[in-house]
Amino acid sequence: GKGNHRHYMEKEIHEQPAVIGDTLRSFTDPSSHRLALPDLPFDFAHPETRLQLVACGTAAYACMTARYWFEQLAGIPTSTDIASEYRYRDTPMTSRELGIFVSQSGETADTLAALRHVKAQGRPTLAIVNVAESTAAREADGMLRTLAGPEIGVASTKAFTTQLSTLACLAIGAARERGCLAASREAQLMQAMDEIPARLLQVLDQDQVFRDIASMLAGAGYVLYLGRGAMYPIALEGALKLKEVSYIKAEGYAAGELKHGPIALVDEEVPVIAVAPSDHLFEKTASNLQEVAARGGKVILFSDAAGIAAMGDLPVASVTLPAVDPFVAPILMSLPVQLLAYHTAVAKGTDVDQPRNLAKSVTVE
Ligand code: F6R
Repeated sequence: GKGNHRHYMEKEIHEQPAVIGDTLRSFTDPSSHRLALPDLPFDFAHPETRLQLVACGTAAYACMTARYWFEQLAGIPTSTDIASEYRYRDTPMTSRELGIFVSQSGETADTLAALRHVKAQGRPTLAIVNVAESTAAREADGMLRTLAGPEIGVASTKAFTTQLSTLACLAIGAARERGCLAASREAQLMQAMDEIPARLLQVLDQDQVFRDIASMLAGAGYVLYLGRGAMYPIALEGALKLKEVSYIKAEGYAAGELKHGPIALVDEEVPVIAVAPSDHLFEKTASNLQEVAARGGKVILFSDAAGIAAMGDLPVASVTLPAVDPFVAPILMSLPVQLLAYHTAVAKGTDVDQPRNLAKSVTVE
């Protein structure tokens, strides 16, 4: 049941500290606190290793986020694609390329077709799934399981953040195997991962702030989400979540693309949600937000205390999130975009758990 929550989506958002903790512990040695992934039938250490990550929808945004981790931490050239495109594109694969398929259900038709396409080329496959008995888990050469538990709400929440947590562990493991991760940095990263559940609880404690911003969004006709680096896929996920459950037209953009098109839509009516922790890209995003404000757009800033202080009174609203290691920031920043979508849908009175036209598992093409 939903316990004391109004909707499954709300319950599942609140379960995230626990299920992310479970997922991370399943990949950690309890005594040493070091990462301990199951044996996988791939050689991450080979200098020619490449990764192709494939999924649909929210799971594809988890893949896009993981690309930053695999490239920046492990130095592995990584591509991502949506399964419905990848399966028909006949992309040439290199001899050291590994296919990674991310799926909550493990039954998504396009994702399975993409997995079979990679297998047919004789390349190894890894499935990251929430349902251990699923087709993807059975057919792939290796499997990592997210421990989100059953996800009932049609809009994915805890499946997404447990996918991110699993991919982050895999990137740390790959970086270690490749010898490009100093032991001290690895310990730091594991510490930052360990602290995620506690930091997420701090975000959940700010529920009222999201309700207030949601009452502002409920009347909007269009909402723009901006993010840079690993926050770009989180901006895409924020827009997807909002459109799915509140039916408000929303788009996510890389902040640097603003002046290449979407700024034409910005006026006094348009809320612009910036997902922007105070990392090495913050100043770039800050200048994009100045451009938004100059056109009357209503900037709503999700950042940490330093980022919010730096923006002064430019945002019409802001949410102060805990400052965390930039590596884990995408996991933390997933919560605010979920909470905002949820509360906006509640304010509009839509069917949060069963949005129109959507199915939980897309088993036909
Ligand atoms: C969005 C959502 C969908 C799924 C997508 C893939 O909230 O839930 O976009 O992420 O249909 O489903 P799985 O992960 O089962 O392959």
